[in-house]
Amino acid sequence: MTSDIIAIDGPAGSGKSTVAREVAERLGWSMLDTGAMYRAVTYEAIRQGLDPHDDDAVARLAQSCEIRTRPRVSINGRDVHDQIRSDAVNVAVSVVAANPEVRAAMVARQRAVAETEPGGLVVEGRDITTVVFPDARLKIYLTASLDERARRRGEEGQASVERRDRADSSRVASPLRQAHDAYVLDTTGLSVDQVVEEIVRCLQSTTSN
Ligand code: CDP
Repeated sequence: MTSDIIAIDGPAGSGKSTVAREVAERLGWSMLDTGAMYRAVTYEAIRQGLDPHDDDAVARLAQSCEIRTRPRVSINGRDVHDQIRSDAVNVAVSVVAANPEVRAAMVARQRAVAETEPGGLVVEGRDITTVVFPDARLKIYLTASLDERARRRGEEGQASVERRDRADSSRVASPLRQAHDAYVLDTTGLSVDQVVEEIVRCLQSTTSN
């Protein structure tokens, strides 16, 4: 298992995916977008006509499907990369992600990626610093003002961003919260480069300790 993990959590539109991708590129590490996994399961549940609230049926799907996130997102061999950010998925994903059995299936897959990763890994999501990799070398909680996050999310709109945040923070299974030992970075008014720079600087300070 790689011991080089940077874990990044934060609410919708805090910049996790963009920043994680750039940090990984800078370091020559791999990146894992765990939100894409929950989105792919949600997309497939809708496609199969399942009710997202049908916990048993969606859990069976999550346990049995094959998901890839790199280089493009696919589920059971179907490329869904461009479909997983649709309104329908935005509406249902927080319901699917609140299902404890779905989470257990995704967390096992995420840890399996780290098991086989020869180099460093940047992982981003909602429960990465608290549940999936609490012993990561560096833990970051990214945030930004609601206005800024809604602006970044564009078409999704502020109401949907707020609704997902509320659902993700209030669910019983692995809610979004700040790990006590995470480095909190408010990205409001910062460029992607500035955030990446700060994370790389934090990583270097862990090395020199
Ligand atoms: O669009 P945004 O980057 O904010 O979200 P995302 O990272 O694509 O995640 C979409 C949804 O998946 C979130 O709103 C959560 O409901 C769920 N999720 C989760 O519960 N746990 C994770 N580790 C990642 C995402």
